[in-house]
Amino acid sequence: MKGSIAVLMLCLSSGFAYKILCILPVPSKSHDHLSLGIVKPLLKAGHQVTWATPYEKKNIHENLTVIELKEIREFVEAMDIMGKSDVGFQYMKEFSRNISISTTQHPGLQKVLVEQQFDAVVSVWFMNEFEAGYAAIQQVPWILVSSISYHPFLEKQVDQVRSISTVPLAFNDNGDRPMSTFRRFINGLIYMLMNVDEWFDKSTITSTYESIFSPLAAKRGVPLPPFEDAYHNDLQELLDGSPQGVIYFSMGSILRSSSLKPHTRDALLKLFASLPFTVLWKFEEPIKDLPPNVHVRPWMPQLSILVHKNVRLFITHGGLLSTLEAVYAGVPLLAIPVFGDQPSNAERAELAGYAVKVAFRDDMVPDVAAALQKMLSTDTYYNRVKQISKTFRMRPVPPSDLVKFYIELAIETKGAYHIRSPALEYKWYERWMLDFVLVVVAVLVTLVTLIKLAVTAILRRILGKKQKTQSLKKRN
Ligand SMILES: *[C@@H]1O[C@H](CO)[C@@H](O)[C@H](O)[C@H]1NC(C)=O
Ligand SMILES: *[C@@H]1O[C@H](CO)[C@@H](O)[C@H](O)[C@H]1NC(C)=O
Repeated sequence: MKGSIAVLMLCLSSGFAYKILCILPVPSKSHDHLSLGIVKPLLKAGHQVTWATPYEKKNIHENLTVIELKEIREFVEAMDIMGKSDVGFQYMKEFSRNISISTTQHPGLQKVLVEQQFDAVVSVWFMNEFEAGYAAIQQVPWILVSSISYHPFLEKQVDQVRSISTVPLAFNDNGDRPMSTFRRFINGLIYMLMNVDEWFDKSTITSTYESIFSPLAAKRGVPLPPFEDAYHNDLQELLDGSPQGVIYFSMGSILRSSSLKPHTRDALLKLFASLPFTVLWKFEEPIKDLPPNVHVRPWMPQLSILVHKNVRLFITHGGLLSTLEAVYAGVPLLAIPVFGDQPSNAERAELAGYAVKVAFRDDMVPDVAAALQKMLSTDTYYNRVKQISKTFRMRPVPPSDLVKFYIELAIETKGAYHIRSPALEYKWYERWMLDFVLVVVAVLVTLVTLIKLAVTAILRRILGKKQKTQSLKKRN
């Protein structure tokens, strides 16, 4: 076990260099030290880090790109902090909002958000939930760092809020454990007030989120998910809470579900509503009056969904990447191919016994219903894909190792000539052995001709002798 963990760590530290965007704009030297404590270990592990910080940084590391939020530093330097030592909660909120909004406006940060693809966004919790938009438009995980003790607003983003009765809020902590009844009541009261405040604030946060991030999402060419989904992704809860099974439906990133005819879409919704399953549908626009078991999102983390144990079926266009992900995860396909390689992928999958193919038409919904009925009433497709998945995963080395290996091999051996196909060294007629055939034929023809000549000569001689004896006999 120890051995395998060590191998895993080795792979993690050498195999994958991730691109991580750290947005840590809190303008205070102590916060900045904390930020460095996050950035440095990432660099040390070999990752590429882009760090938005109010402070100037020089030559820290070759893999660090710094976006200097100079305006924020200057803004704070110009403020009379000392004169504001007894500021209240509202002032702090306004201050942090100014910082967070000003950060989102920074042209350098906007440029990388639009033009580059990161693997994760790390940001500091600074009372501005609209910052969920950074990770939402990158379509990557959002990692929050908090510099104050555990509190319900942070808790809400990763869990259910359940600390109110047991963990004192930051302003309500004098160290007594367990909390006295009075302190617990105060905890409850503060939490209530904070919720009221949040409720009043919600429309501002939502509109700030939309006004800042929808232009950036448009520039990246991705849909901006509704604020609630970006801020608190409930997919995990939906998947975990659906032991009866989940059907995942996505027509991929190029084909847009919203280009379905309205009557086709409505018929699909009606069909899904009649199923005893949870349906996750990648659909780019909000839909009014969704059945309670159907959930739409403009974007879905496909592989993470497919590998969830409750997923029973994947309705897909049958693109190769989707098909491979489904095979990897062991989920049967209901394929509705549209163009390109999709029809032949779907046919292959059907022939292999882990898919049913339905033709894409405006009136395809009865066929989809029949296919669902056929696939969900038996374990055949499920068992078949599990078997194929097992075979698919049985490899001597992971494909990612092979990519690295062959690219390095090609570079280091200057072209990997030693493993090229030897066929490339021959002329076409040599590959087909035409010259050989020609020689064989020539030899055969020559032999046959020679034999023929010899036979004729011999025959002629024998016959010639006979004729002579016959003519001699006649004369006698
Ligand atoms: C910088 O990143 C590259 C590629 O990710 C890596 O090979 C290199 O070792 C990194 N440099 C340092 C000093 O870690
Ligand atoms: C926030 O920004 C606004 C507009 O720039 C300014 O009027 C206000 O004083 C700032 N508030 C704080 C607390 O920095």
